[in-house]
Amino acid sequence: MTAEDKTRLAALLDTAGDFLRDGHWRERETPVFEDDVTVDNAAQTIAGDGGGDSLEAAAAIAAIAAIAAEVRECRACGLCDLRILPVPGEGVQRPLVLVVGEAPGSEEDERGKPFVGVAGHLLDRMLASINLSRETNCFITNTVKCRPPGNRDPSPEETEACASFLARQIRVLRPAYILCMGRIAAQTMLRTSEGIGRLRGTFFDYTPDSAAGAPAIPLIATYHPSALLRDANLKRPAWEDLKKLLARLQT
Ligand code: URA
Repeated sequence: MTAEDKTRLAALLDTAGDFLRDGHWRERETPVFEDDVTVDNAAQTIAGDGGGDSLEAAAAIAAIAAIAAEVRECRACGLCDLRILPVPGEGVQRPLVLVVGEAPGSEEDERGKPFVGVAGHLLDRMLASINLSRETNCFITNTVKCRPPGNRDPSPEETEACASFLARQIRVLRPAYILCMGRIAAQTMLRTSEGIGRLRGTFFDYTPDSAAGAPAIPLIATYHPSALLRDANLKRPAWEDLKKLLARLQT
């Protein structure tokens, strides 16, 4: 979190405390905070969308930052010993679309940010083609937050060990839509072993587990940008999938 975000959050919490105590606002000295030394993309970018204007937004910022901090400390599987930086995710608070990928690659591992390599640049272009971006209306994360060595698929155990982070991010972020990039993300989110060729291009209901009463979130999957870089024939179907999402966003 940046010092500015912490100052804003502290002021909001003080004001809420005053209100709950006796309804009187108290003058205080502004505490001096410092930026987090570690990379905390989520909190930094979330604060950039102006969401800090409400207590609810401030609580969401704090919750996403807390999840990111837990990801940094996590030792639930062996990937923590092999990674450089974990990649909790980044984007805006209350996103229109939550984009879910597979796991960080080497550039993401070095920078602690999701989808910043070649595939990430293509993802940014795909999102831009339907008026989406991580700066304005998306949050981007992965099913697994640490890089599997050699970019192998995450194992079922690693995916399971990481699952609660994504589930909690979804509960806090409450995206209007979820876009899964590739087979691993789609299979994990939909709890199926069906191939991406059959899963893509159809809207499913994602129901946040253990969140009784939480409304289902429409989820659509398409091919992973890395797959498009390997096989140009997949670009047309991926574009069809994106157009379906765009049509829903425009209704
Ligand atoms: N591929 C993914 O699935 N996620 C990333 O963050 C980068 C590449």
